[in-house]
Amino acid sequence: MPSVVLCITGASGSLYAQTFLELAISLKINVDCIVSERGQKVLEYELGISFNKFKKHFEEGGVKFHPPQDFFSPLASGSVLNRYNGVVVLPCSVGTLGAVANGISSNLVHRVCDVALKERIPLVMAVREMPLNAIHLENMLKLQKMGAVAFVISPAFYNKPKDIKDLALFVVGRIFDLLGIKTEIYKRWKED
Ligand SMILES: Cc1cc2nc3c(=O)[nH]c(=O)nc-3n(C[C@H](O)[C@H](O)[C@H](O)COP(=O)(O)O)c2cc1C
Repeated sequence: MPSVVLCITGASGSLYAQTFLELAISLKINVDCIVSERGQKVLEYELGISFNKFKKHFEEGGVKFHPPQDFFSPLASGSVLNRYNGVVVLPCSVGTLGAVANGISSNLVHRVCDVALKERIPLVMAVREMPLNAIHLENMLKLQKMGAVAFVISPAFYNKPKDIKDLALFVVGRIFDLLGIKTEIYKRWKED
């Protein structure tokens, strides 16, 4: 069974993270999840539910949550993180992007990304910001050169999405593709 670490930060787009978790459960993918302190606040604002309720709901589906300040978490160690197929930061704020690109580990999200880079574990940084300044672009290039996937959240419209859930499924499906987990959850180009 594939295992993935999902990091949720304080960028807009909590729906993407919620969709990722729902799909991971239905696909029987093991997920360990870290939600940054600011990610918890944005999630509450955007989804209109408390973080505790969100956490409880997904814990019932088997997701394991780690507090963002827990540096004693097993995930902070390369020996444990090596068991995982990949680390995904979705949505990724430009603050977390900057911390990871510059080797700053002030919370467990940053530390897990740092470990993924040093251990060569697939890392997808799904950044959400617009427009991008030169610092953001340089940080993305830096991470891309270190082997991470610099993923800008950018849903397509050629597959005629019906609603925002379809847009989220496209983005999440592309991330599963990058992790080598093949799904049929979104309409690919010229696929009916
Ligand atoms: C409602 C809301 C939406 C936000 N959207 C974004 C965003 O799309 N991208 C971003 O980089 N930061 C966004 N921010 C700012 C981040 O939450 C802020 O920079 C925070 O420090 C990020 O911390 P974290 O990366 O540890 O979660 C938003 C903040 C709020 C309150």
